[in-house]
Formats: sequence, C-alpha cells, structure tokens
Amino acid sequence: MSFSTSALDPAAQAESLRETIRHHEHQYYVLDQPEISDGEYDDLVRRLQRIEHDHPELITPDSPTQRVGGKTREGFQKVPHSSPMLSLDNAMDEAELRAFDARVRELLGDEPFRYVAELKMDGLSMAVRYEDACLRQAITRGDGATGEDVTENARTIRSLPLSVPNAASKYPKFEVRGEVVMNRRAFERLNAEREERELTRFANPRNAAAGSLRVLEPSITASRRLDYYAYFLLDTSGAPLFDSHWKSLEWLSRHGFKVNPKRETCADVEEALDFCREWEAQRETLPYEIDGVVLKVDSVDQQRRLGYTAKAPRWAIAFKYAARQVETEVTDISVQVGRTGALTPVAHLAPRAVSGVTVSRATLHNEDEIARLGLQIGDTVVVERSGDVIPKVVRVKMQGTRRRPFRMPKECPVCGGRVVREEGEAVTRCINVNCPARLKESIRHFASRGVMNIEGLGDAVIDQLVDRGLVTSVADLYDLSKEQLAGLDRMGPKSAGNLFNKIDRSRFFAMPRVIAALGIRFVGERTAEFLAQHFGSLDKISEASREELMEADEVGPKVAESIFTFFREPRNQELLQKLKAANLSFEYTARRKKDGTLGGLTFVLTGTLPTLSREDAKHRIESAGGKVASAVSRKTSYVVAGDDAGSKLSKAKELKIPVIDEAALLELLSKK
Ligand code: IVH
Repeated sequence: MSFSTSALDPAAQAESLRETIRHHEHQYYVLDQPEISDGEYDDLVRRLQRIEHDHPELITPDSPTQRVGGKTREGFQKVPHSSPMLSLDNAMDEAELRAFDARVRELLGDEPFRYVAELKMDGLSMAVRYEDACLRQAITRGDGATGEDVTENARTIRSLPLSVPNAASKYPKFEVRGEVVMNRRAFERLNAEREERELTRFANPRNAAAGSLRVLEPSITASRRLDYYAYFLLDTSGAPLFDSHWKSLEWLSRHGFKVNPKRETCADVEEALDFCREWEAQRETLPYEIDGVVLKVDSVDQQRRLGYTAKAPRWAIAFKYAARQVETEVTDISVQVGRTGALTPVAHLAPRAVSGVTVSRATLHNEDEIARLGLQIGDTVVVERSGDVIPKVVRVKMQGTRRRPFRMPKECPVCGGRVVREEGEAVTRCINVNCPARLKESIRHFASRGVMNIEGLGDAVIDQLVDRGLVTSVADLYDLSKEQLAGLDRMGPKSAGNLFNKIDRSRFFAMPRVIAALGIRFVGERTAEFLAQHFGSLDKISEASREELMEADEVGPKVAESIFTFFREPRNQELLQKLKAANLSFEYTARRKKDGTLGGLTFVLTGTLPTLSREDAKHRIESAGGKVASAVSRKTSYVVAGDDAGSKLSKAKELKIPVIDEAALLELLSKK
C-alpha cells in the first residue's frame, strides 16, 4: 500500500495513518501475512506519533499508539460476567465422544443438525466488551461468574482489535469471548530470558499467558507477545448474536478478530472424529499448544433446546488429547555448556516415540532439579512433552537395579576452566569468558547495540571468526585487519571496510560501556555507570575487595560477589590487559552531568550521518553532558542533519534553530 500524507491537514493525516497502520496490524498479527517490513511499519507508527505529539487533541483511544497505558495499577477490579463463563465436559476417548453425540441426537429427537469443530487452544479464556465500536473492557474468566478487569493489559494484545468500526451501526454493544494464548516461540524466548535472569521458568505456555495477562504493569504484558483467538460472539445479555455459531465465527473473522482458521463444520460424529484425529497427528506442527478439540452444535436454536447442566452446556464438549507422556530409562547424564556459561545436565534416554516424535534427550535444568526428582542414572522415568521443544523428566517411575548418582563436574567440560555455583543459586557456571562455548556469546554481547555497537558483527561473522581461530577473546577483534575481514565468506571489500571502521571506532566509547561490554553477570549499563562514577578507573574496580565494591551505588552482596569473582579469573585479567593495549577507555572522564562540554544543550538528530550511527551520536552527546530529544521544539539547541533529513529539518528552519552537520558536531565534542 503506497502512502502519501503531505497534502493533507494533520487530522486527516492522522486518521489516514491510523487506517493504514490498522490494516498492517491486521495483516501481521491476525492473518500472519505482512505486506511491509517491520521497519516500514515502525516508520508509519512514528509518523503518527509525531502528529499526535504535535497535536495531542487528535489522539483517539483506539489509535494504534494507545495500546500501552504504561501506568502501574493498584490491583484488578472484580467484574461480574454478563452470563456465566462455563467450562466444558470432557470426552477422554472416542467412545466418550460417541456417547456425547448419542445424547445430543436423542435430545434433539433425531432432527438434523451440524457440529462445528474447533481446536482447543491451551490458554485462558477472556471476555471482551465493545461499545460504540470500541474496546471498553476485558475480563478474565475468574470463577466463571466474576472475573478481573484486565482491560489495560488486554489492549496491548495486537491481535485484539481496539475498534470495530463497521459494526457500530448494527451492533452498538457486543461481547467477544475467546482464548489468550502464548505461542511456542514467545514462550521459549520468555523462559530463556527468565533463566538468564535466574527467575523460575514458566511450566507451560498457558501458565506463561496467564502470568503475563495478570501483571499490574501493562508494558510487561505488551512485551510478552500474547495472542487472542475469538470463539464466541454475544449480545449484552450473553446470548449469541447470530443464529449459528459458524456465522458468528465468520462475522468475527470479517471484522478483524483472529479466529482460528483450523475449524470445520461436521455433518456427524464420524466427521468430527476425523478432525480430532487429523489434528492430534499434526499438533506438534502448530505454532501454539492445543490440548484437544471443541465440538459445538452449530444451531443456536438447537443449543437453546439442549440447554445446560449445572456446570457445562449440553451442546458442546471438549475432546481431550492424551498427555504426551512416556516411560523410558535414563542411560546417562551429560553436561552441556550454554552460551552464558551455564552447565546444564541432560538426561540421555532410551529412545521412545511421544506423539509422533522420537525422544532421546531431556533437560534436567540443574543439580537441584535432579535432587528434587531423586534421579540417578539407570532409573526409569516418566518423560513429558509439554510446551517446551525439549521434553522434561516429570518423575522417577522405578529405581534402576544398578543405578548410580550423577555428580556435577568440578571443571568446565569444554575448556577445563573453573566452574562456580554461587550461594543461593541453582546454576553452576563456567566463568572463563574465553571458553569456546561462551566466546561466541561474549562477542555477540560485546558488539550489541547499546554496548560497543559494532554493526555488521552478526552471528555469521562471529561463527567464522571463532571457528577459524581468528578471535580467541573479544580483545582480538581490535587486531583484525581489513584483509582478514574481507577474507570471510560473504564479505565484500566494502562491508569489510565498514566493519573494520565500526570496530576501530568502538575504542572511543566511554569507560562505562567497556565495563558493560565485559559481560559480568548482573552488571548492565546502569551498574556500569555507577561503578565508573565510584571508582573512576577499570583497574581500581578490578582490584577492589567485595566490601569496596559494595560502596558503589546499587551494588549489593550478590553483584559485588559476581564482579569480584570475575576479576579473580586469570583469563579475565589477561583479557583486560589486551583491551587496555587496544586503547579502550579505562579511565572515567566524561560524566553525564551538566558540567560536560555540551552541558545544558539539547540536540535533535535527523537523517543519516556520514560516519556516526544514531546510537553513537546520541551516546557521544550524552557523555559530554548534552541531551538528545526526538522532536524539534523551541528548546532545541541544535539539529544535527545528515542525508535524507526529513520533517525535522523543515521544522528547525521554521523555528530558526541552528542546523549543523556531523563534522560540526564532532568539532563541538572535541572541545573538552
Ligand atoms: S468454548 C461454554 N472454544 O477450553 C463454552 N473453549 O473447558 C466454553 N478453549 O474455558 C468455551 N479453545 O478456555 C471453547 N475453541 C474453543 C476453545 C475453548 C480453548 C478453552 C476455554 C474454555 C475451556 C473449556
């Protein structure tokens, strides 16, 4: 979709942008068919934000920019449901499903009817109320009669429309019910992040979805990438809006809701069973978890006549799939070293098929988990595939006759370096940053945005540098020649030159970045800044005792211990000396205070600068005490313009704000 707004007034521009953004959100989040790149999408949102920033009166509650309220709330309000949110009776096997079907046929006196079969997604149900075409309230199931108002959080779910414009005239008020789910990828990513931060893992995507919806901070929900699949459309009294369930699903889908396309109408129970079997065989191929199939009588009139038992409708049933568990023997336990240095014990299993996939390994997470299970090598265990890609050991079924205990190695199985398990922590780690298993991750961290910012040092390049032995510690990056870089696969002379310059220029970053780049556990940018302020030089930090380290702001015993241990490792000392020799900043000079060269000045960056990236420029300005703002206003001191500078440049001219280029900025910065 091409887009031009320049000729329109701000109100029309904003509305037009909103419509375009909604269209692309629907393509991306609901249909999984993006038409534009993420960058182009971000650009549209930024354009809208700019207009709304300049004209706050134009902001509408359903604007795509209004998904995150951002404020922390006191707790959740209890809200009664318009009609009870019931659960379903379960059919545990085909016979039970046939029995359900026989009952339906009997109650309907043999009149013809159809079923709608849908996948039973494993999440939590949520009711969403719309009024005058806008999302007004989202309520969790709760106890079925009363739920919790999670509106602010639900608004961050991108597949849930904030407005349904075409529905307003005909249906001023309606309620949608459906399932909040977290897909496997988001779940894996969340757990990996939690593990890294030493938080407990969520057991499965359903718990993760529930935990993410019921947090008091909407921006956390937003970051968790939840999805919403609609499966009911009701009026305000809780009665269906249409006379057939299928029609409701079609209407929802046409009006922007995500409705699972894997649904069918079935003429009889045999067709329904085919649907159940088909998806049981394919469930692992789905991007989200399902635990069965829901079968509903399609006609609402027939639903009404079938009625309800005390807890569930008589016109619907959940066909539950068998738990994906299997019994097998643990033949050995080995240890893997992860990218963060964590030693993870892995159970080797006598191979068994679980829901169509052969399982021969299962993670045991850490020593405590093995103790909790009471597991020894040779035992027979129950293994389950749940949300994780990697199956897990649920419990010991039978102790082996020749069982033997597992012991965590005292040395890293990859590099032979020292491993440490800190007090109160479950994870044992290799602390040698040059351990080959860790090296790639260390480089990735070192080069990442906001740290040393070495653009172009991606995974493919890192792999080659380490595998060819060109880099054995991050410090070796500074010894690489242009020719060596140009010799890598898929690296032309131009990109090699760019990468070389990027690496070279990263030497000039201020000392807090160097501290953060070392990848010491618990030491991010903020702590690095405090350490730099307190000690003034990297050598002093490296020599400091635990007690001295704790004198820096926000450094407690745990962080101090981590820093102290890091610098006691001879290989880390060696790394430090090499980085010093490469001329990185080991002294703290520029303070982020108003007393810097640029103290009191506010800059706005626009366009592409010839050598500095946005991040670099921003960092340098801030290190020198200046501020960087995103929009041009009368408070702006300078606009730094590069190629393709856009509206900010015209705004600067309009407000008569001095416009400078990169060379002039560097000039200002050099006057220290
Ligand atoms: S219908 C009264 N349809 O499964 C009707 N439920 O025990 C109840 N679920 O609480 C819901 N996918 O959380 C329905 N396509 C689907 C579903 C579905 C998942 C969940 C829902 C409900 C539970 C049934």
